[in-house]
Parts: sequence; C-alpha cells; structure tokens
Amino acid sequence: MKVSGSLRVPGDKSISHRALIFGALGEGPSRITGILRSADVHSTAGVLRELGADIPVLSSDFVVHGRGPESLTQPLAPLDCGNSGTTTRLMSGVAAARPIDATFVGDASLSRRPMRRVARPLEAMGARVELPAHGGLPMTIHGGTLHEAAWKSEVASAQVKSAVLLAALVAGVRATVTEPARSRDHTERMLAARGGRVRIEGCSVSFEPSALRALDTAVPGDPSSAAFFAALAALATGGELRLEGVCVNDTRIGFLGQLRRMGARITELERRDEGGESVADVVVAPGTLRGTTIGEADVPAMVDEIPMLACVAARAEGETVITGANELRVKESDRIAAVVSNLRAIGAEAEELPDGMRITGSDRPLAGRIVTHGDHRLAMAFGVLGAASGNAIEIDDRDCVAVSYPDFWRDLARVQRA
Ligand code: S3P
Repeated sequence: MKVSGSLRVPGDKSISHRALIFGALGEGPSRITGILRSADVHSTAGVLRELGADIPVLSSDFVVHGRGPESLTQPLAPLDCGNSGTTTRLMSGVAAARPIDATFVGDASLSRRPMRRVARPLEAMGARVELPAHGGLPMTIHGGTLHEAAWKSEVASAQVKSAVLLAALVAGVRATVTEPARSRDHTERMLAARGGRVRIEGCSVSFEPSALRALDTAVPGDPSSAAFFAALAALATGGELRLEGVCVNDTRIGFLGQLRRMGARITELERRDEGGESVADVVVAPGTLRGTTIGEADVPAMVDEIPMLACVAARAEGETVITGANELRVKESDRIAAVVSNLRAIGAEAEELPDGMRITGSDRPLAGRIVTHGDHRLAMAFGVLGAASGNAIEIDDRDCVAVSYPDFWRDLARVQRA
C-alpha cells in the first residue's frame, strides 16, 4: 500500500465541544467555523439546548448567540451525553454552578466511566452530587452557589481541570486546579482569548472571576484524527501524505514525536497561529520503523493515540513498551486489555502490563477479526493496521467511528494507492 495526496481531517473534537460551551456562556454572537460534526459534539450541542442555550443545527459555518451563564436553566429531561466523556465532565462543571438539578445519562460505555473525579471537586466547591455505587452514570448534580476552591487532581485530565474551571467561571469564583502532569490546555487558551483571567504555573491553572466576551472560533484539524493518517503513511511502502491545517498544540502532538522516533519521516510546514492555537500542515512519509518506549510523562500528550501507536508497534522492528498509561483502562473501553487481545487475535505478539503493554513487532501478515467494544479509536487504529500491505483485518463495528470521525472510512480509502 502506498499513500499520496493531501487530506484535511475534521475539526478538533476538544475545541469543538469548548467552542459550543464558550459560545453559549459568552454574551453576544460567536461565529464557529470548521466544527467537528460527530456524535460526541452533537451530544454537547444537545445538552446545551436542553439547558436553554440557543445552539443552531451544526454546520460548517454558524453563529451561537450567547446569553451568558444565567441563560442556562432547569432542564426538563435527563441530559443525554451519548458516548461522550467530555460532554459529561465539562457540562457537569457548568451545571454545578447553576441553581438546577441535572441528571447526566449516557450509553453503556459512558455509564461505566469514572465520574467521582469530577464529582469530588464540584462537591468541594459546594455542589451536591449523587452517583451510583460504581461511580459512573447516571449522575445527578444539585447545583447552586459555589465557593472558591484549590483542587489537586490525582489524574492528569483536561476534563477534570475543565470541569473545575467552568464551574468557577459560571459561579464567578476563584479556583485553582493542580494536576500531576499537564493535560491538554484548550480550556485555558479559550478562556484567556475571551477575556477570562487565567494564570498558569507549572501544572497549576488558576482562574479569577471574570466575564467572558463572545469570540469567533475557527476550529483547526484534530491531531487525534490526523494521527491515524500519519500512522497510515508511516506504515506505507511508498509515497507521502500531506495533512492540512492540523492543530499542533504541544499538549496534543506526542504521537507525532513518537512516530518520528520510530523512524517515520515527518515534516511540519507553514506553522501559523489561528485563534490562539498553533496550526501546521504535516507531511508524513514511510521509514524503517523500530520499537519505542513510552512512559508516564509521555502519556498525556498522546493519551488518545496509544491504540494507534500500539498497532504501528506491531509492524515495527523490536519491542515497544508502554507504561504509566493507567488512564487507558477508563476510556471508551479498557484500551489496554482491548488493544492487547485484538493484537493477539490477529497474530501479533503483545502482552498486557498493569499500566500498559509490551508489543514485539514483526512483518508477518496479520489477519483476523477485531472486537471494538464500540470504541471508535480501536476501530480506526485497527482499520489503519488492516490497510498495511499483507494484512487482512475485519472490524466488528465500523460504524462506531461516528463518535469522532464520521467519514473516516471514506478518507482512508481516498489516500491509498496500490
Ligand atoms: C479530552 C480530554 C481527554 C481525552 C478526551 C478529550 C478533552 O480525556 O482523552 O478524548 O477534550 O478534555 P481526559 O481528560 O479524561 O484525559
């Protein structure tokens, strides 16, 4: 399989959620261009509408008429977050600071995911939160008057950090969140760009009460979606692929760095600043791939890309060892168990570690059927591995890519050459 041409991957998922939320919380019109129109982002739009925000049908270019935090009122139905952890956790922060009772529900996968990590800081700020014994959904938040807080999160999580910052913004109180390592920083950037008073010191972010102004957002390409095509080009037997307009924020591009260390040829062209985010075209060409080592410090900047990295490792020379990746166990599926069992099912050598995995690469053909557990990133990672020459991989649920990349299979076919 060779690759050629260029591709503009869809808008960044994290920035798309936030563009809607900040659009609704600002005062006045915010134009949003290039938003990701995927199931997860539709979930955030739906939850905001249920709370009374004026969110139009999502299109490539539309305006949200924000009416400030006070416009968000008692929902009449449970807030359905579908498969989206980002919707649940970010909107839990917003709901906690309003005088409302809001019940968050979701699909089977989301309902199993840990919500205490947001419930605890929101309780520390004065909200009352009801959770089932297993700590997932349904979660009911009784919001109201919050007070300031300094929260130390046990996990590096942009969702936890954002829940606290959004609660502080809506409540008009001060808050500081400290995490063990720096997670993606889109919330901080977007707050600051809209006039929010944010201070960053090492792994701590502080917010001082400040009103948000409306601001237009041009959503850049999603580096987590671009990662699949970077991997495809790295696994190809020839050619190169240009990925246009990708967000190259440092907190997001750990995967590209690792792929380069493994031997892929990667160049960044035309780096520019678009709306407070660095954006570039990324050109990827194949190289001789060798195994790599990923430790705890590497994980936050590539937390969603580890399934793809593991699949590349199965075709690289030597061993790849990933540790410090406990968070993968509580994503849309247990991505450590699922990646390892699927790699083994197609004939690759892989072993589960408590907090990661060990993979020994080879160039023998990999064939078999993948069980995705409805996890979009597993479907796409194994879809890319299946496109590599000699492999024949069947995916049990191809449609689950709709969560983050509805046209993934079309784009995957489009850039391949015989
Ligand atoms: C996200 C944060 C990450 C990431 C998720 C999106 C965000 O989750 O895995 O896909 O937009 O804040 P965690 O905060 O749980 O690490």
